[in-house]
Amino acid sequence: MERTQVVILGAGPAGLFLSHLLHLGGIESVVLERRDRAYVEGRVRAGVLEFGAAELLREAGLGGRMDREGLVHRGINLRFAGQRHRLDFEDLVGRGILVYGQQEVVKDLIAARLAAGGTIIFGADAVRIEGIESTRPTVAYDTSSGQGELAADVVAGCDGSHGTSREALTGARRFERIYPYAWLGILAQTPPAAEELIYAYHERGFALHSMRSPAVSRLYLQVAPDEELDRWPEARIWEELRLRLDEPSLRPGPVIESSITPMRSLVIEPMQAGRLFLAGDAAHIVPPTGAKGMNLALADVSVLAGALLEWYRSGSTALLDSYSADCARRVWRAQHFSSFMTQLLHRDPQGDPFEHRLRLSNLAYLSGSRAAAKSLAENYVGAATGALG
Ligand code: APR
Ligand code: PHB
Repeated sequence: MERTQVVILGAGPAGLFLSHLLHLGGIESVVLERRDRAYVEGRVRAGVLEFGAAELLREAGLGGRMDREGLVHRGINLRFAGQRHRLDFEDLVGRGILVYGQQEVVKDLIAARLAAGGTIIFGADAVRIEGIESTRPTVAYDTSSGQGELAADVVAGCDGSHGTSREALTGARRFERIYPYAWLGILAQTPPAAEELIYAYHERGFALHSMRSPAVSRLYLQVAPDEELDRWPEARIWEELRLRLDEPSLRPGPVIESSITPMRSLVIEPMQAGRLFLAGDAAHIVPPTGAKGMNLALADVSVLAGALLEWYRSGSTALLDSYSADCARRVWRAQHFSSFMTQLLHRDPQGDPFEHRLRLSNLAYLSGSRAAAKSLAENYVGAATGALG
């Protein structure tokens, strides 16, 4: 059986950034990833980095391409009742956000790990975690050429929303909410129709305008949770985007990727049992409306890496013991904000007129009151957790 200090399940932002941070602190790890490298690097996900998350990547020496190619946004737009309102985050809370695709973060992290001689085993599906209550947990994994097994001091479950590590976490509580909506997302070769994101509440349903570069747009539509992609030919998608976003400069272009994502909120608490620690989507899932998923993943592992380094350095388990509690405040703030944004911006599937008027009233309040706008801005850019006391 092979041995390492920390075995990490999953080469998403959580697993890769953890491996990178541990390496900077002189700790060895092995990352097991079920998929192949091309799949992981090509998987289209969200793309908003909070100010603090971008800063974490920069401090870890990963800011080069991100700062050259990422798009700095000072604010976002809300569109409802036929009008667009801008929320100027820089003005409201003194910080903006960085639009940089999660898959680009993943590519940068893989490149950095491989350049430093790190081990990522692609095509390795972790199937069994054992001994988490002992000092020598093990992970068994399947590859196309047979089974392998790794022993370590600690197992980090960074294997996302469909991973296996969550099942191995005995005794944890599960908090969950399913929403009656899904997002149909496309990546399209067309210049963005506006400089910043547009979150649109429309009687036909929610729509979001985002981007990846001056030539590539990322667009989303609210659809029913059981919607099928083949009911949405490109012409229908563009027509619906035109109606809901109502942006005269939106131009249809070749669709590079499309998918439907169901929406749910999930928290597993505590995020730890014995020598198993969960991070990122393995521990909690947010609906994408608040753009928090990747930010939470990066923040979790920066706490976990700090705790592990302290433990290896001094033998103290204090930070490891408080890992879950230390993450919980940020996780629950993001859960609340994501749930709030989701309810605010999606059309009630029953078309309840009372719900509709409540949403319009709150959107008008957020656009008209500096106090309300500031609260949204604080949460969106990730400045709210500092105010939690
Ligand atoms: N063995 C090995 N790898 C696995 C296993 C397994 N049993 N199960 C899942 N994986 C891999 C997945 O293939 C994926 O590459 O774990 C990785 C998890 O990565 P992400 O899903 O990107 O999760 P995370 O790193 O927590 O990042 C969270 O991803 O889903 C988005 O919105 C979410 O932005 C957030 C981010
Ligand atoms: C994206 O650019 O993919 C994106 C932006 C904002 C969100 C969700 C996704 O809330």
